[in-house]
Amino acid sequence: MSDTLNSVSSGPVCLGIETSCDETSVALWAGGRLEGELVHTQIPMHSVFGGVVPELASREHLRLLDPLVTSLLERAGRPAGEGIGLVAVTRGPGLLGALLVGIAYAKSFAQALGVPVIGVNHLHAHLMACEFSGPIEYPALGLLVSGGHTHLYHMPRECQFELLGRTLDDAAGEAFDKIAKLLNLPYPGGKYIDELARLGTPDLHLFTKPYLHNDNCDFSFSGLKTAVALHVENSALPALDYADFDAATAPQRIKDLCATVNETIALTLLEKTRRALARCAGVRTVCLAGGVAANSRLRQVFSGFAADNGLKFLAPAQNYCGDNGAMIAYAGVRLARMGLASSMDFEAIPRGRNVPDDYIVNPYFKE
Ligand code: KG4
Ligand code: ZN
Repeated sequence: MSDTLNSVSSGPVCLGIETSCDETSVALWAGGRLEGELVHTQIPMHSVFGGVVPELASREHLRLLDPLVTSLLERAGRPAGEGIGLVAVTRGPGLLGALLVGIAYAKSFAQALGVPVIGVNHLHAHLMACEFSGPIEYPALGLLVSGGHTHLYHMPRECQFELLGRTLDDAAGEAFDKIAKLLNLPYPGGKYIDELARLGTPDLHLFTKPYLHNDNCDFSFSGLKTAVALHVENSALPALDYADFDAATAPQRIKDLCATVNETIALTLLEKTRRALARCAGVRTVCLAGGVAANSRLRQVFSGFAADNGLKFLAPAQNYCGDNGAMIAYAGVRLARMGLASSMDFEAIPRGRNVPDDYIVNPYFKE
């Protein structure tokens, strides 16, 4: 991450809180830089069940959030929240119980300090995190690919997101994870498919790139998952040892299959983004964000596409693609600089519902 982002070197010191899924993460953004950050992942706990167990996730957030904030503030030399001017928290979409833990905490903390709170759209925050790698030049296109979402946006100017397309069923990350499960890879499987794919050769005749025979920018990955399931069933692939996963020693046929799946998903995402580019005038930047944006082949394909079209390509560093408090704190500062905050009674927005843009004027805002 660049040390200081000039475009946001002013604005309040912001505490960011992320609890939408299986990461409890808190961060402080101050004077245009990340002052501190702590992330606790629940992946080892959920992987035993092969997916996130919502009730367990909420309990873990409740157990960990206060100790993490306390430790973050102490390390930053602000043990009683000295200097903090804003609390930003993920409002949704996410797991309802998990979101409620973060939101209740954020509201109480803001009230105790007498500062505004802002409920941040988790999907927009992922895309704003592209600015950790450099400023977005507008207009831009933003592809958000995560475990729960595949959203393609036109971003005409700062903090504005117009949805061009979304998945009709499985998200790209969900497709990676379900296919990984079929291959007996650990959860969440996207990064293991990525690792194996780098050692394999794709066969682009094996699976059809899904949902391209239309003229829209939506996605559908459930058919690909079924096609891979049938292929696995019919081709007697050697079984992988989940507990002792080692990409290097995996059978070549599995590496090739992973390369094929990876390439098929990457090219499908690219094709719809290409369509979006043809529809939106004057685009200058292509942004790729969300957990799946850590995928090495996807990054390669998108940076090549941007270069071929004279566009700037931005994606967060791989460790900022997944859920993190830094992106929430950063988005909070961005919104605060536009004079926005949330009223104290804003609600959590679960998956499947749109996060409303019902900000209020920040009563403490000074340009
Ligand atoms: O954004 P994220 O951390 O959480 C959600 O908000 O969903 O995304 C998690 C998703 C999982 O599906 C995971 O398998 C996927 O991101 N993922 C990857 C890679 N790293 C994480 N998918 C493909 N390749 C990767 N390298
Ligand atoms: Zn996310």
